[in-house]
Amino acid sequence: MKSLNRIQDKTINVGIDIGTSRIRCAIAEVNTDSKEIKLLGIGSSPSSGIKQGSIIHRDQIIDEIETAITDAETMAGMKVNHVHLSISGDHIRGINTQGAIAIQKNGHSQMSSEYDISREDVRQVLELAKAISFPVDRDILHILPQEYVIDTMTGIKDPVGMSGRRLEARVHLVTMATSTATNLAGCIEELGLTVEGFVFQGLASTIATVDEDEKELGVAVVNIGAGTTDITVFHDGGVRHTGVIPIGASSITNDIAVMLQIGKEDAEMIKLKYASAKSSMASPELNFDIPVKEGELKRDISEHEVSRYVEARMVELLQLIAREISRADIHESLTYGLVLTGGGAQLKNLTGLAEETLKLRTRIGIPKGVSGAIDIASTAAHSGVVGLVRWPLYYDEKQFSEPTGLTFKTVVNKLSQWFKEFF
Ligand SMILES: Nc1ncnc2c1ncn2[C@@H]1O[C@H](COP(=O)(O)OP(=O)(O)OP(=O)(O)O)[C@@H](O)[C@H]1O
Ligand SMILES: [Mg+2]
Repeated sequence: MKSLNRIQDKTINVGIDIGTSRIRCAIAEVNTDSKEIKLLGIGSSPSSGIKQGSIIHRDQIIDEIETAITDAETMAGMKVNHVHLSISGDHIRGINTQGAIAIQKNGHSQMSSEYDISREDVRQVLELAKAISFPVDRDILHILPQEYVIDTMTGIKDPVGMSGRRLEARVHLVTMATSTATNLAGCIEELGLTVEGFVFQGLASTIATVDEDEKELGVAVVNIGAGTTDITVFHDGGVRHTGVIPIGASSITNDIAVMLQIGKEDAEMIKLKYASAKSSMASPELNFDIPVKEGELKRDISEHEVSRYVEARMVELLQLIAREISRADIHESLTYGLVLTGGGAQLKNLTGLAEETLKLRTRIGIPKGVSGAIDIASTAAHSGVVGLVRWPLYYDEKQFSEPTGLTFKTVVNKLSQWFKEFF
């Protein structure tokens, strides 16, 4: 096996998406010139050590992460050492903020205007935009520029090389609980790997599923996982809102288990096989046997009856999603509506229910823009992990500041700083 994260003009990107129900690892080769991404390996493992983004059983999660990585390494025929990790949970917060600087006179300019904006100016204005006070246990996860304003000109995407006296940056900041990130990074370090950065799971799935046009004209990407639902709203090419609802598709499984008095495994099977998000699309005549324990009476139920409960739960979740989208404060409508992704988006007839409930056009988000072994990753459930391997390209293109993903080292440094302040 080769052991590398970089070969000539090619880089190896590795993503690990740690979910409530599954851990997925993707290894991809990125051509740094053409920006083409080829998926070399995909691995996965059931997940039982994490709940809604936070670790509940450390040893278990380390074993499960190792299984997913080994799977992907075997398929790719190489060992990896650097990874990007997804992060979610209701500790994630998004906030819109801005910063402004006066542009210094540039004495060397040959042009009539001597106030050219440099990369350093952009870096400085982003530093100012993120300089807002947070509680001590929070850290910045992403600084996502929405637009720049030069004097009175608004809507500028890249101000470098333009002239003006005042530069303003409007950004969307995503913050996370430091301890959640530290604990996740600790599990990866335990396996001898380095965490290059964290990416908000909602943003990772966006990178894999929507294109620039959609981001420009407005789209809300909703990743429905097992335990969390991540929302990222784009307009004018920038992120306007991010949010996490601590409810996912496993709540449907729980409802079915309680309603039919059966175990969660059987309830999950029934959900996948018979449930529809629109009960009107499920037949009242099609009955199926409910799994029963030995000695219990045989029971059956119609697909329509089960789907009535599923629909009620999904309408509730869609209403919470609508509330999050409204927080983006976009007065123009979202032209591209809703993109549903994550495993939960695979529920039968969910797009129909979403269109009806939210009055927004809706499609399912399947990972795209990647070649190679994409066949096995062409499901909505893989959007997070595919987005992670595309993230370093997205980051290079869009960011001007220091890396937004915290490394384990910086998190540990920050923690030791607090300890010094406390004692
Ligand atoms: N065909 C399907 N119909 C209905 N639900 C489905 C289907 N396929 C997968 N799911 C559900 O999707 C969920 C898993 O999605 P996913 O793999 O995106 O979650 P996760 O990443 O493990 O969780 P999270 O992101 O919340 O931590 C499970 O609840 C599963 O039952
Ligand atoms: Mg997930």
